Amino acid sequence: MTATAIHAEAAAPQPGRPLIEVQDIVKHFGPVIALAGVSLTLDAGEVHCLLGDNGAGKSTLIKTLAGVFRPTSGEYRVEGEPVFFGSPRDALDRGIATVYQDLAMIPLLSVTRNFFLGREPVKWRLGPFSFIDMEHADRIAREEMRQIGINVRDPQQHVGTLSGGERQCVAIARAVHFGAKVLILDEPTSALGVAQTSMVLKFVRQLRQKGLGIIFITHNVRHAYAVGDRFTILNRGRTLGTFKKAEITLDRLQTMMAGDKELQVLDEELGGTV
Ligand SMILES: Nc1ncnc2c1ncn2[C@@H]1O[C@H](COP(=O)(O)OP(=O)(O)OP(=O)(O)O)[C@@H](O)[C@H]1O
Ligand SMILES: [Mg+2]
Repeated sequence: MTATAIHAEAAAPQPGRPLIEVQDIVKHFGPVIALAGVSLTLDAGEVHCLLGDNGAGKSTLIKTLAGVFRPTSGEYRVEGEPVFFGSPRDALDRGIATVYQDLAMIPLLSVTRNFFLGREPVKWRLGPFSFIDMEHADRIAREEMRQIGINVRDPQQHVGTLSGGERQCVAIARAVHFGAKVLILDEPTSALGVAQTSMVLKFVRQLRQKGLGIIFITHNVRHAYAVGDRFTILNRGRTLGTFKKAEITLDRLQTMMAGDKELQVLDEELGGTV
C-alpha cells in the first residue's frame, strides 16, 4: 500500500455520534485510585481541553483512552460502539492517536524518516528486501508540512534542526496522515515560546475545521482557552465539571483551578475537615 492510499483512509466522522464517550471510568493502581469515576465525551470537530493539577489523573485518563491502560471499571465507546482496547495498536486501528510531548521525534533522523517512521512508501520488493521510494516520501513530507505553513527546505534535514513548534507539528501531521480521527495531545505547548505555541494552536484549529476531535491536555489555562470548545477540569481523579466556552470565562476557569488548589492546601493543613 502506498502512503497516498493510507492517507485516503483518514477519518470520515459519523455525524451526530460522539467520537469518544467514557462513562464512570475508574482506574486503580493497587491501593492508588487514579481515576474515581470520570465521564467525558468528544465530538467530531471539537477541541476538548483536559485541565488539572499534578496528579489529577490526566495522563491516566488519556492512557486509558489510548489503550495503554485497561480501566478497572467503566464504559468506553467509540462512535457509539463499546470498545475494549488491549494495546495502543487497538486504539490506533480505531483512529485514536496520541502525541506525547518530547517522545514524538527522533532528532537525528530526517524530517521524512520521522514523518513515516517505518511506514515509508515502498518502491519495490525482492524477497525479504524492500526499497523505499524516498523521493515520493520526501514529496509527501514536504507537501504535508507546506499545508500547515511550514516550509521545510530539505526534508532530508535532521528533525533536530527544526524548532520545537515545528517538531510538534510534524508529529501531529504524521498522526493525521496515517488516519487519526481523534488526536490526544499531551501538553503540546508546555515547552514552547509564544510564537511556537501560536503555530501549534493554529494547526490545532485547522484540524478541528477538518472535523477531527482533539483532546488537549495542558496546565496552561490561556492556551486551553485560545483553542478549546469545552473544558473538563480533573481533580484527584474526579471531574470538577465540563464547561462549554460560552459558559465560562478565562478568569473563572483560572479561578476554578487556582481556587481549588488553595482549598486542597487548606484541607491538608486542617486535616481534611474542609
Ligand atoms: N503506573 C502507576 N502506578 C501507580 N500509581 C500511578 C501510576 N500512574 C499514575 N499513578 C498515580 O495516579 C495518580 C494520577 O496520576 P497521573 O499521572 O494520571 O496525573 P496527571 O494529572 O497526569 O499529573 P501531571 O500533571 O503531573 O502529569 C497519581 O496519584 C499518580 O501517582
Ligand atoms: Mg501527566
